[in-house]
Amino acid sequence: MRGFILLSVLLFSCHIAFSIRDGLLPNGNFELGPKPSDMNGTVVLRPNAIPMWEISGFVEYIRSGQKQGDMLLVVPEGAFAVRLGNEASVKQRIKVIKGNYYSISFNFARTCAQEESLNISVAPDSGLLPLQTLYSSNGWDTYAWAFQAEYDYAEIVLHNPGVEEDPACGPLIDSIAIRGLYPPRASNKNILKNGGFEEGPYIFPNTSWGVLIPPNIEDDHSPLPGWMVESLKAVKYIDSDHFSVPQGKRAVELVAGKESAIAQVARTIPGKTYSLFFAVGDANNACAGSMIVEAFAGKDTIKVPYESKGKGGFKRAVLRFVAVSNRTRIMFLSTFYTMRSDDFSSLCGPVIDDVKLLSVRRP
Ligand SMILES: *[C@@H]1O[C@H](CO)[C@@H](O)[C@H](O)[C@H]1NC(C)=O
Ligand SMILES: *[C@@H]1O[C@H](CO)[C@@H](O)[C@H](O)[C@H]1NC(C)=O
Ligand SMILES: *[C@@H]1O[C@H](CO)[C@@H](O)[C@H](O)[C@H]1NC(C)=O
Ligand SMILES: *[C@@H]1O[C@H](CO)[C@@H](O)[C@H](O)[C@H]1NC(C)=O
Repeated sequence: MRGFILLSVLLFSCHIAFSIRDGLLPNGNFELGPKPSDMNGTVVLRPNAIPMWEISGFVEYIRSGQKQGDMLLVVPEGAFAVRLGNEASVKQRIKVIKGNYYSISFNFARTCAQEESLNISVAPDSGLLPLQTLYSSNGWDTYAWAFQAEYDYAEIVLHNPGVEEDPACGPLIDSIAIRGLYPPRASNKNILKNGGFEEGPYIFPNTSWGVLIPPNIEDDHSPLPGWMVESLKAVKYIDSDHFSVPQGKRAVELVAGKESAIAQVARTIPGKTYSLFFAVGDANNACAGSMIVEAFAGKDTIKVPYESKGKGGFKRAVLRFVAVSNRTRIMFLSTFYTMRSDDFSSLCGPVIDDVKLLSVRRP
């Protein structure tokens, strides 16, 4: 009994003493590397050779500027990254607060032409993320993924489930960060949660390409609290340090046309009239052209055209509707695909922000 109490006290004090901070995981950018004796060329030989990490399978330790065939590997943060070959993984165990929500952001790049994917997991949750790298010009992208802590610790595993002929094919991982999420609630000022997108995953200060919120096929917990990504492709989470955003510090860019949509189900009262307010703009990222954002509230819809010069700016729109059910699905998508005018390999699109849903007395 006494032992039990002592243990509880210890566990409780651990929560307070060691709850993790937002930002890079310990050695999360792999700048601390293996000893030369733990490597053969670029291949890491021992499971504990990379400080703070445990690896398994064919993991390479890559220095920025290293060549692979004709390709020069450049690392966005610091000078080192790891490459996960066939069935390879990196793993780190950290202390978390049981029951809390966390999002993990990581930078990745593909190195071969094949479709690659990455399985990120914190037991019992896992997500299989398609690595498309269609979004940024330099080949690097950042993904976010979220979990709810089931225990006092979390074992974060990034695993390449692929089996390619060339074992050196596989994603490069540069940095991994974590951020505690505090899911906002609906209020009488907004029936939608997190309508301004201010709550979301960690954005690396040194990256200028935003964070992809992957399609939420199997995930229960969204890295963008309140919102689901129900489409085939990711949406991009952007911040005012690197982009133009209509309101606050953060917003969402719809980067993959109709294949990229975000949605939230709101509680409504059948027969009541509601107004859905939102802002449509561009991120000041050379994404120019005629854009259309389609907003849906149940079966009601509005198309909002926006002429983008790619230099920032926004307009406001309202969709008024009468609820026909207890629950109304609010959804946004972009009608068209758009490419950046300075880089025809990067998808981009309209930005949405400041989404508010309110009931109105009389139309
Ligand atoms: C290092 O790699 C080379 C080439 O794959 C291999 O022939 C050699 O046996 C390896 N050495 C060690 C110590 O694993
Ligand atoms: C991803 O990894 C987790 C944990 O190892 C595993 O349970 C899950 O089946 C894996 N998913 C896929 C699609 O490989
Ligand atoms: C960002 O880059 C600068 C210069 O390269 C570096 O000193 C700094 O540590 C980086 N910040 C983070 C969070 O990695
Ligand atoms: C709406 O909510 C009421 C009360 O909670 C419930 O009785 C009814 O079945 C719900 N209707 C629908 C369509 O979900």
